[in-house]
Amino acid sequence: MKTQKLFSALLMLFVLASTAQELKSPNGLLKAHFSLDEAGRPTYDLQYKSKEVIKSSHLGFEIKDTEPLLEGFELVSSTSSSYDQTWEPVWGEESQIRNNYNELAVTLHQVSTDRSLTIRFRMFDTGLGFRYEFPIQDKLGSFVITKERTEFALTGDHTAIWIPGDYDTQEYDYTTSKLSEIEAKFDEAYTGNASQEQFSKTAVQTALMLKADNGLYINLHEAATVNYPTMHLDLDPKTFTFESWLTPGAKGNKAYMIAPQNTPWRTIIVSDDARDILASRMTYNLNEPSVIEDTSWIRPMKYIGVWWEMITGKSSWSYTDELSAINLDTVDYSKTTPNGTHGATNENVRRYIDFAADNGIDGVLVEGWNTGWEDWFGKSKDYVFDFVTPYPDFDVKALNEYAHQRGVELIMHHETSGSTRNYERFMDEAYQFMNDHGYHAVKSGYVGDIIPRGEKHYSQYINNHYLYAIQKAADYKIMVNAHEAVRPTGLARTYPNMVANESARGTEYQAFGGSHPNHTTILPFTRQIGGPMDYTPGIFEMDMTKLNPNNHTQIPTTIGNQLGLYLVMYSPLQMAADLPENYERFADAFEFIKEVGIDWQQSVYLEAEPGAYLTIARQEKGTGKWFAGNNNGYHSRTATVDCSFLEKGKKYTATIYRDADDANYKDNPQAYVIEEKTVSSKTKLKIFTAAGGGFGISFEEQ
Ligand code: NOJ
Ligand code: CA
Repeated sequence: MKTQKLFSALLMLFVLASTAQELKSPNGLLKAHFSLDEAGRPTYDLQYKSKEVIKSSHLGFEIKDTEPLLEGFELVSSTSSSYDQTWEPVWGEESQIRNNYNELAVTLHQVSTDRSLTIRFRMFDTGLGFRYEFPIQDKLGSFVITKERTEFALTGDHTAIWIPGDYDTQEYDYTTSKLSEIEAKFDEAYTGNASQEQFSKTAVQTALMLKADNGLYINLHEAATVNYPTMHLDLDPKTFTFESWLTPGAKGNKAYMIAPQNTPWRTIIVSDDARDILASRMTYNLNEPSVIEDTSWIRPMKYIGVWWEMITGKSSWSYTDELSAINLDTVDYSKTTPNGTHGATNENVRRYIDFAADNGIDGVLVEGWNTGWEDWFGKSKDYVFDFVTPYPDFDVKALNEYAHQRGVELIMHHETSGSTRNYERFMDEAYQFMNDHGYHAVKSGYVGDIIPRGEKHYSQYINNHYLYAIQKAADYKIMVNAHEAVRPTGLARTYPNMVANESARGTEYQAFGGSHPNHTTILPFTRQIGGPMDYTPGIFEMDMTKLNPNNHTQIPTTIGNQLGLYLVMYSPLQMAADLPENYERFADAFEFIKEVGIDWQQSVYLEAEPGAYLTIARQEKGTGKWFAGNNNGYHSRTATVDCSFLEKGKKYTATIYRDADDANYKDNPQAYVIEEKTVSSKTKLKIFTAAGGGFGISFEEQ
């Protein structure tokens, strides 16, 4: 008996030794292992500076109507390689991105079923990415994944900054809790409508930000999600192990696959310094290079919009209040009575165009310009919008001509009301309409349940729709900013016309009742890992009753905080979201929004703690000008701006737009100070930041 045990232990060691593979990061600080366990299960782990990040974790799938791809594998081959190249993004937080990794690809064969798969690992200095690849083969042609079983076994009860799993929205405030508390807090956090048999109350969304008691920051997300459902993470609270939890399609299946096909990359970014999480470009590097050859038409833009006035309830998207159900074929809007609150009128749009032209703002978004808003929530929802028919008080041709005359362009708006098939059938016409009238950027939206057949916002089929819209838009040289679409996974490297997304709780929720005051100190660690967010910053009037007497929200932010957002919340499409009249009231603070860059040569992450504070300095592409910004969480604090990024030996005037000493997000949000200081690369500026506050700084060489 004893000999037998010894023998099987030795045999196990031999098997492990024969399959165990090690992969190190280029700087040697990260180490992963791959092996097949005694049952032939693919297994990996990850260490950072000799600390365990991911304990031994299994990999695999359950497949519909056939044996799972979980165990009984043998190693066929393994190949190692290295890569080190630098590429230039069309827009970004820096002008050059180094893509440097070591790779290990293991090809496995499941003996009993004669099926094969390759798992490709790429180790960067900032973390690990891996994906599954299904090569062409006889026994695995087209198949349906019913469950992906990728594990991330964590080492303990880490602090997690999470939003609940939801197949349709990420527009949540974050909860910060121990992993062991997620289940108990899930119901309080969850506001969606997924049926419980479909859902797990321990599932959270990615990018998930974790902090371990040993000081490690760990970020779990995915890269290059193409033709595959979005991954959530489901926790086993007993073992602190997350398992991938894919968004189901209309029939409950997860992914429909046809070999050869790859899954997205699963990513683990890790460091003992939170700033490294922000500086990591792993997610972009795991995506393919741009497929758009001529990118000259893709330009970062600052914009304002006939938008906040609708969001706050000051004006309306709709033209009339008379219609409860419309039929686009028969309705004659000119015979209806205007409601008098329509925002997208010729007169109002001209006012915004003038304001943009006078202040050097590139674009004006106009929502509610097209017919159909009256019945958006009505029965004919699937045929509400055709994306080409303006309301009678919006003259598409004249307004575009006027805008162009004044050196400004209009930004198109396509609200799809969740009807992706309807959008697809009008898409060519809608994009051609944009080309004909001189629009070259569109904000699209997917509010409401996906219709008509019960798909989810993050299922494979709908993820394919978002990409189809981006690809089609590229054919028409159109930049896209999609709201309510899937959270990005670095695809903007491949399709740089995908200039922004919403896909998180943006400024609109400030008008709907407010977000947590520390929300924007979290988003760069979560939502922004996959790409820029159209957060729509720049609100100067926090008392919503001033815009709409029926809206009693007091927005939990300060003017200093709003200015800091232009640095903290990177986006090549950056809005100044408040109304022109509010900017006119605070013209000196608005100077910062006018001046601040939107495309960057380099970025320096000065201070970072998710949920608490963020200070970032960036150098503008082209001009070489430096700016810095900060967002602060719940507690007032003194931030330090170490100016060593400035050129040595030179003097600069730093214009600091900061919270006044008595400012705070609750009852004194508009108190700010603008001060000038002479600084050099040796200066360490100490700047007060209020609760829910922040600042913006521009540096001018003397
Ligand atoms: C929700 C979007 O987030 C918002 O920006 C837009 O104005 C409305 N949908 C209407 O499309
Ligand atoms: Ca939204």
